[in-house]
Amino acid sequence: MKIFITGIAGFLGSHLAKFYINKGHEVVGNDTLVGGYRDNIPNKAVFHKIPCEDNSSLKKLFQGVDIVINTAAYAHEGLSIFSPHTITSNVLGGSVSVFSAAIASKVKRIVHCSSMARYGQIKPPFKESDIPKPVDPYGIAKLASENILINLCEVHDTEYNIAVPHNIIGPNQKYDDPFRNVASIMINLMLQNRSPIIYGDGKQKRSFSDVRDCISCIDVMATDKNVKSQIINIGPGDENYITINELFEIISNKLKFNKKPDFYPDRPNEVKYSSCSSDKAQKLLGYKTKFSVEESIDTIIKYIKERGTKKFLYNYDLEIINEKTPETWKNKLF
Ligand SMILES: NC(=O)c1ccc[n+]([C@@H]2O[C@H](COP(=O)([O-])OP(=O)(O)OC[C@H]3O[C@@H](n4cnc5c(N)ncnc54)[C@H](O)[C@@H]3O)[C@@H](O)[C@H]2O)c1
Repeated sequence: MKIFITGIAGFLGSHLAKFYINKGHEVVGNDTLVGGYRDNIPNKAVFHKIPCEDNSSLKKLFQGVDIVINTAAYAHEGLSIFSPHTITSNVLGGSVSVFSAAIASKVKRIVHCSSMARYGQIKPPFKESDIPKPVDPYGIAKLASENILINLCEVHDTEYNIAVPHNIIGPNQKYDDPFRNVASIMINLMLQNRSPIIYGDGKQKRSFSDVRDCISCIDVMATDKNVKSQIINIGPGDENYITINELFEIISNKLKFNKKPDFYPDRPNEVKYSSCSSDKAQKLLGYKTKFSVEESIDTIIKYIKERGTKKFLYNYDLEIINEKTPETWKNKLF
């Protein structure tokens, strides 16, 4: 099969590319390299450095493609409150361009990566049947892109599935981005003997999932003829559900780090308790949590140590700077 992966230099995109190359498929992808690393892309994948917004180029590249997996996005939930134009035009505009080009080029199936941010402040664990109430522009744009995908695929008879990943961690994740990827950011800072930054009291809880537990689920959504028109959470249920303070403790113990974290005020609208039901993923995709947070952290430490720590890059403009904008971003404290 010929599989096209948008965002191929990113975390999930590069793992998917490696997975399909190992299975003997032809893999092509695009990326702007704003949020991913060039050397994440496997050598055997064909890479095009073009943005998803370049609809006419995508239309040509999608000729003869069987499956498009859309992982490209500025996956910046917290930042979207302060840079809503940058984030939503990317998340929504880029995705719709991918859907349009894929349908025009007669791609058989589109798999779109949404986000648990689609659910917002509802009661956890979030179920696919819940009515979503996103509380930030990123979540709202992700939900809108899902709705547009469903609408277009129904009209034009194209197969689709929507994956809802949540807090997947592992190597290949950007660790020099001050706006996202808490575990990788903490490790990058602590390996430089710098205290990590925690927003609020650190008691916010997240279910971390290992990328090795998630890639096969996205594959089922891409290739299983019996799994169609589905929205499915990808990740653990209440396993690996820990506070950010506990995440810090795990990494501290592994790195023998003996400083305390620096606490900063809560970020506006940050969801305190965020976990997803994995019942549907278990049933339809064979999801099983095999790796603990400790095991995932080991792989990230190894990855960052091998590549070396990095200075943080502020790749996204802050559009709204006021008293609510985190000081860490305004004053570039990372
Ligand atoms: N990793 C997670 O836990 C998680 C959680 C929720 C949702 N998601 C979603 O899954 C997808 C993949 O996430 P990830 O963690 O791999 O993110 P990532 O940032 O590591 O990868 C995304 C890649 O897309 C590229 N990109 C962004 N906009 C682009 C554009 N317009 N054109 C071309 N390339 C572009 C970036 O440069 C980056 O390499 C995203 O859509 C994200 O919203 C991921």
